[in-house]
Amino acid sequence: MNTLIKSLAGLGLGAALTLTAGTAMAEGSGCGTFTNADGVDEHLACSTAPIDFTNKGSLQNGAKIFMNYCAGCHSAKYVRHSRIAKDLEIPPELVEKYLMVTTDQIGDHITAEIDPDIQASWFGAAPPDLSLETRLRGDDWVYTYLLSFYEDPNRPWGANNLVLKNAAMPHVLHNMQEKLSAEEFESEVGDLVNFMAWMGEPARHDRQVIGFFVILFLLVLLIPVYLLNKEFWKDVK
Ligand code: HEC
Repeated sequence: MNTLIKSLAGLGLGAALTLTAGTAMAEGSGCGTFTNADGVDEHLACSTAPIDFTNKGSLQNGAKIFMNYCAGCHSAKYVRHSRIAKDLEIPPELVEKYLMVTTDQIGDHITAEIDPDIQASWFGAAPPDLSLETRLRGDDWVYTYLLSFYEDPNRPWGANNLVLKNAAMPHVLHNMQEKLSAEEFESEVGDLVNFMAWMGEPARHDRQVIGFFVILFLLVLLIPVYLLNKEFWKDVK
């Protein structure tokens, strides 16, 4: 009986932990190394992305930035415009008017405006689909990457990146960065990465909440199960 309870509890806990820990896997691998002015290689620590799916204003702003600055080159082929309207609580008419850059059907997925093959010949690398980018690299990696562009006259587009050395992507947020203070720019990029994390797993917040209650339920269940166990064995021992 004891072993049965233990293995059952183990199973439940395992499942609950998977529910809560899902996205932690990709993170933690750091944000690469860079060579400083003295020619010494330094480790670059990731900055923490401000992820908060309950902040609809942040997600909406992130969607706006993504559609205006990123969807020209990158697709997000698992995300439908209609889902953005529903989950982010944006009226469909506004999505149609302001957020649908590459299609006129609200049920369509986000496709890139420019053919990836043509872009590969322009930039030397095709821009990857970004639906699952935060799952692949981690939220913090993507956040740090977008904050780590710097001027480099030796690169074809005049910019390089600390996280992804010799990145083929131009510094597309350059104009935005010039106009804003450092904090404002970080906050805009934070909203953008919050939206990208939502694209990667729209149910993430629900999963974490459910995971918490599953653990709580198991902990509470432990009390009657423990007492029952004692009761059953009372006369046997
Ligand atoms: C002008 C076209 C263009 C635009 C606009 C653009 N990108 Fe890119 N992006 C690229 C290319 C090309 C690559 C491939 C870079 C490489 O492999 O070096 C890339 C790579 C990336 C990567 C790294 C992928 C990886 O895992 O290696 C991320 C993240 C990314 N882009 C995010 C964005 C975001 C967010 C935006 C909007 C703010 C954006 N990009 C706008 C062309 C673009």
